[in-house]
Amino acid sequence: MFRTRPDHRTETVQVIVEGRALMVPEGSSAAAAILLAGLASIRETAVSGSPRLPWCMMGICFDCLTEIDGVANRQACMVPVAVGMRIARQHGARDVPR
Ligand code: FES
Repeated sequence: MFRTRPDHRTETVQVIVEGRALMVPEGSSAAAAILLAGLASIRETAVSGSPRLPWCMMGICFDCLTEIDGVANRQACMVPVAVGMRIARQHGARDVPR
């Protein structure tokens, strides 16, 4: 379904998506890594529990909210991958410390 552009970077970095190591092109977003991982969803909505995957890839839809390196509610499409980054499923709404 997804292909890289002909001018994509050939260097890759290893990230962990839902516990699985994955090599992704350097400079990609965490959302791209999620899509490359082939998951059925990366989060469920807080109200209905509907499954979601990154959609707009430009910070508008918020369907890519996920946990990145232990921090919940990150917009994966706005976060570039880094070596060893851990991307994990977010369940419902995040906890907000009071
Ligand atoms: S994919 Fe739409 S906000 Fe990230």
